[in-house]
Amino acid sequence: MLVSGTPYRTVWLQEESVRIIDQRRLPWSFDLLDLHTVADVAVAIRDMAVRGAGLIGATAAYGMWLAAREAATPDQLRSLADSLIITRPTAVNLSWAVNRQLTAIQAAGFENRVATARLTAETIADEDAAACAAIGGHGLEIIRAIASRKPGQVVHVLTHCNAGWLAFVDHGSATAPIYAAHAAGIPVHVWVDETRPRNQGARLTAWELAQQGVPHTVIADNTGGHLMQHGQVDLVITGADRVTRSGDVANKIGTYLKALAAQDNGVPFYVALPSSTFDWTLRDGVQGIPIEQRGAEEVTHLEGIAESGSVETLRIVSPGSPAANYAFDVTPARLVTGLITERGLCPTTETAICALHPQASGSI
Ligand code: MRU
Repeated sequence: MLVSGTPYRTVWLQEESVRIIDQRRLPWSFDLLDLHTVADVAVAIRDMAVRGAGLIGATAAYGMWLAAREAATPDQLRSLADSLIITRPTAVNLSWAVNRQLTAIQAAGFENRVATARLTAETIADEDAAACAAIGGHGLEIIRAIASRKPGQVVHVLTHCNAGWLAFVDHGSATAPIYAAHAAGIPVHVWVDETRPRNQGARLTAWELAQQGVPHTVIADNTGGHLMQHGQVDLVITGADRVTRSGDVANKIGTYLKALAAQDNGVPFYVALPSSTFDWTLRDGVQGIPIEQRGAEEVTHLEGIAESGSVETLRIVSPGSPAANYAFDVTPARLVTGLITERGLCPTTETAICALHPQASGSI
């Protein structure tokens, strides 16, 4: 996607290292960061310099290229792979990408590990971008259908967190249909949940949409229900960090509450994801999906930019009060109108999901 008119992906090979956009600095500054070792990649994922399911997976895939260069034995490679997998627990794209690398290297032979890992990483990144572009095309049809029912009026889409191009290699999942609709001349406006505690909506999604010229408004996290009650939301589209074979969706904390409000108000609630985000081994997401808990300081403190231009961190919680930081929740399949995948739209039933994805068979 374009940043100040220049096309970027979120991760790529730069000579002997892996180059990323440092998302901890956005939107205050647009900085690139070079990762030279597997340990650098692990820190970048854990500290959320890169984040979002697809991008975590693609960055870990490039990390496995560094691992192939660092490892002298298959055991060392396995241990470096494990050091990447444990960085974040909820988004399944991470283990999916690392395990795909291990399988490819095993098939090619350990002596061919570096070339194999490089090719596999590039393939994973290209597939991620292509899948998100296809998701955009399929999701566009949903927005087009809504627009046709209200000719000349703006279609209002609500989204949560950042499932934009910054969360993938390019295009994004939840935002891809929005970008496609905007490009097709359909008047769209996006309600952007701020997404406490890390504010990925207010910081990243808002920045992304502004870069692409898409009309949007940032709202406090608890505003969506009110807007739905007053006919101000035509459609909700979120991303996903892990989706079970029966359609339960793990996504950023607060997604479940949006889905409940959407159902109560008859607002369609779609989840956009590439097939790398399915966990074919799980059926019950509430019981089965591990929910990451992060440091309390993300809740107790807030980062922002002062009038002077300096980035500052302020405490916003009463000193001495403990805080808990659950990073994700699970929205049961019954609350999800449908999935937008690179293979097309899909109802949230195990039969429909598995029919669209033959790779699901034999995994449970
Ligand atoms: O904690 P993050 O920022 O890595 O969380 C991931 C997300 O941005 C959201 O949950 C998103 O909607 C799904 S990732 C495509």
